[in-house]
Order: sequence, then structure tokens, then C-alpha cells
Amino acid sequence: MDFTNLAQKYGTPLYVYDFDYIAHRYEALKNAFHARKSLVCYAVKANSNLSVLKFLAGLGAGFDCVSVGEVKRALLAGAKNYQIILSGVGKRDDELKFALENEILMINLESEAEMNRLEAIAKQLGKSARISIRVNPDIDAKTHPYISTGLNENKFGVDLQTAKKMYLHAKNSPHLEPVGIHSHIGSQITDIKPVIEAAKIVANLTRELKATQIDIKFFDVGGGIGIVYGEESEPDLYEYAQGILANLSGLDVTVVCEPGRFIVGNAGYFLTSVLYEKFNKEKRFVIVDGAMNDLIRPSLYQAKHKIFALSSGKTLCECKKEQLWELKFSPCDVVGPICESGDFLAKDRNLPPLNPGDLVVIKSAGAYGFAMSSNYNTRGRAAEVAVKGGEDFLVRRRESFEDVVALEREFLG
Ligand code: LLP
Repeated sequence: MDFTNLAQKYGTPLYVYDFDYIAHRYEALKNAFHARKSLVCYAVKANSNLSVLKFLAGLGAGFDCVSVGEVKRALLAGAKNYQIILSGVGKRDDELKFALENEILMINLESEAEMNRLEAIAKQLGKSARISIRVNPDIDAKTHPYISTGLNENKFGVDLQTAKKMYLHAKNSPHLEPVGIHSHIGSQITDIKPVIEAAKIVANLTRELKATQIDIKFFDVGGGIGIVYGEESEPDLYEYAQGILANLSGLDVTVVCEPGRFIVGNAGYFLTSVLYEKFNKEKRFVIVDGAMNDLIRPSLYQAKHKIFALSSGKTLCECKKEQLWELKFSPCDVVGPICESGDFLAKDRNLPPLNPGDLVVIKSAGAYGFAMSSNYNTRGRAAEVAVKGGEDFLVRRRESFEDVVALEREFLG
């Protein structure tokens, strides 16, 4: 990928997505489950650019959405309504109504209160709502606490007993149709044992439910498959899929999974230009034009993304401590222009001396990158570019100052 050319053509900061890689990841996951009926529902929250969604819809993907906005995005991108799931711990009435009116595949419930609300809305509309219930198996996904969701101390889902009670209620309601069961224990999971353990617990519950004539058709194992950012290793897809499928013997269900990061994470690069270098005593800073408003993962989760620099046509990868002297590299923090000490993209990395205009490329930025960006410090959001078959396409233009203030009204005080 010619990052220098892309940066010149579209400016920086810039997100670049490799669509060929996205296709490759989608197919790999789909193939891993080939022994069963399966539906890969891409988690829209990871990267909700309409072109990404349209591309995945074209490959046959379904979509896991967590707001009516995401459902609308998926539909706009050409998703089939019967391949859309609506999840989320706090859905509003209008969101439930929209999902019902648009006949999506199922609404994933996270509490009894929500079930009662949905039942009432379905009754008003004279409909029966297809539902699944998010079961919290009380399993530690062993990931960052902010992205761990499968423990009772987390706000997500309901415990097994509550789930049974809810299924029973739903079975007897003319306005609820229980069709699925769901669990998602966390994100960026590199050790798949907890996921398989969760699948076992949920599969056993599914058997109990089936024995009481509750016909679960969709077994949703959630998302969360980890990717390589740095030194970690990626779970083996075959082991992941086999581990889950091994627990499903005797169950006639379609396996659903909801990967976000796995599909788009390593397809994305964040390109930012060097503005200045500065030294505070011994401490070296490389100040770039991208910031925490563009990519918040390092600030929020202490996430360590691999980086490299491009200078005068040369690719300069980070070097090891023992090469520092030889290569004239030195440790630095790559920081943005935002007025917070937490505004950094990388810390303590060994890079060569950099000049204004050189590029720093941040890897693994395709998931929860642009999607979590903001206008903090009145910074317009970055442009997004797709690269497919060697061609590049602008899939979201850079935000202008006018875009940023467009919704504000004159002060009338
Ligand atoms: N399904 C559910 C119910 C989820 O809550 C999530 C992510 C996914 C699927 C997709 O997970 P994935 O396959 O992408 O790991 N902003 C954080 C990640 C938050 C994940 C939230 N839920 C980050 O940048 O690491």
C-alpha cells in the first residue's frame, strides 16, 4: 500500500482501509464454521462506515447493531432485514419499534424490564417480536476490564436463572417469539478457552430450553476474537470454531457470531504527519497532526498499536533497544496537538529523527478507530479511504469547520 501517495492525495490525518483484507477475514471466519449453518453478523460498532457495511453485505454478512442508528446504517448499506440483530443494554421505545416494524432477525434482550417493554410495544403494533436473550455466564474473558462483559459485576445480560424465567414467559406470550440465545463475554480475547467455556454453559441451557419446547434456532456466540496489535498471538480460528461446535452436538441451531475487530482491525491504518519534534530536557516528543480525538484507544485502554515512519521514501520501523545507537534512533512519545497529557498515540517508541511532513503510520486502526473519534478541541474528523484491488476510493471526506459547527444555533441569551 502506497501510504505516502495516499497521504499526499487525501491529506492527513487519514484512515485507510484494505478491503481485500476485510474480505479475506470474513471468508476465513465463515469457512471456519462451514460444518454448520452459520451467520456472521459483523459488529457495526467497530467501523460503521457505509462503504465497509455495503462491502460486507455484498459478501453475505449479517449485522449486529447496538442502536437504531446502526440498524438504519445497515439497511442503508443494503443489508437484508432478516440478517440484522439489535443488541444493547438500554434500547429506547423508538428503537424497539423500528426493529419490529422492519422485521429484523431478532432483538437481543438484556433484562426482564426490557422484555416487558418490548412485549407491550409488540402488542400495540399487533406483532410478535422475535427475541434472543443475552445470557451472562459469569466467565472471566481475561481481557482489559473496560472490554470484559461476561461477569456478573458487568452490566450486560442476565444470569441463567433469570434467562430461564424470561424464556418461559416469552414462550407463553402471543407477542414474543423466543428464537435465539446469546452470550458475549468480552472483546480482544486472545485465549479462547473462556469463550468455549461460555458456549458450553449456554449450550446446556439451550438443551434445557428445547426440552420444554422452546425452539431456539440461533445460537449466538458473540464477538470478541482478538487480533495481533503487538506481541500477542491470534486465536486459531479452527480451534475457536471447533471448540464451539463441539458443544453443540445434538442441537439443530444456526451458529451466529458477531465479530467486529477480527474483520476490520488489522485492515485499517491511521496516517498522521509529523508537525514538529521537541525535547523537554531529555524527553523526546514527536508531535503529529493526529490526536486522541481521532484514535482514542491508546489513551483510553493503554492500547499499544505498532507504528512505523515514512521519511524521504524510506520505511523506518521501530527498532530494538540495542540498535538505537547504530541507527541513530531514540525513544520518543508520539503525541497529538490536544491539550491533555493523555493525548498520545504511542509512548516510548524507538524512532529515527523525523522532519515536518514525514508520515507516521499507526497499524491495526480499523476497529474502534474512526468509530470512536470525536470533535474534541474543534477538530474535524479525519477522512477515510478504502483500497481495493490496488485502487483507492474516498469513503468519507474530511470534516470541515463548517461541518463541525453545522448543528449549533445562534446564542439567544
Ligand atoms: N457483540 C457484542 C454484544 C459486543 O458488545 C461487541 C463489542 C461485539 C460483539 C464486537 O466485539 P469485537 O469482535 O469487536 O471484539 N472500544 C473497545 C472495544 C469495545 C467492544 C464493545 N463490544 C476497543 O477499542 O478495544
